[in-house]
Amino acid sequence: MYWEDPPKDREAAVRTLAMPKDTNGLGDIFGGWIMSHADVAGAILAYRRAAGRVVTVAVNDVKFLRPVFVGDVVSFYCDVAKVGNSSITVEITIFSERNDGGVARHVRVATASITYVHIDLDGRPRPVPQGEDQKRPRKDPDGRPS
Ligand SMILES: CC(C)(COP(=O)(O)OP(=O)(O)OC[C@H]1O[C@@H](n2cnc3c(N)ncnc32)[C@H](O)[C@@H]1OP(=O)(O)O)[C@@H](O)C(=O)NCCC(=O)NCCS
Repeated sequence: MYWEDPPKDREAAVRTLAMPKDTNGLGDIFGGWIMSHADVAGAILAYRRAAGRVVTVAVNDVKFLRPVFVGDVVSFYCDVAKVGNSSITVEITIFSERNDGGVARHVRVATASITYVHIDLDGRPRPVPQGEDQKRPRKDPDGRPS
């Protein structure tokens, strides 16, 4: 799920300050900077859910909704959207906290969906430990997988 407003009951996975060195040719923050932090934020959650090493296998979706400005405090909130056998898909909602005329406000600036794969020491996929969020095969009343 993507958040409309920053959730109040948890900390962001990553929070950082947008600096002048991170700007594009227009003077706004470069999209690649946002994507890089989104990847790190999602990887932290996937690493915790997998209880081990993960690598990014796919960036499924990124939407840049509003510009990020120099001086914004940018927060990355993450939720597990799907757990497969070895994969974990994380949805990331990104908010800028900016100061307009002395009033701080939060603006949803981007969303992203990124899939990670839990790997062993040889870099091969390995199963994610079972959890409540895991998609289990449904069984019919006779116990056969549907
Ligand atoms: C990630 C990697 C280990 C997967 O190896 P693989 O042999 O392709 O593995 P599989 O085909 O068995 O797929 C593993 C899982 O990834 C999922 N997956 C593979 N490609 C995918 C894609 N394009 N989008 C979403 N999921 C994908 C599969 O559905 C599978 O999920 P499941 O186990 O939950 O069903 C391998 O591709 C790799 O090492 N890639 C490089 C990773 C990397 O360097 N990332 C950047 C730096 S972190």
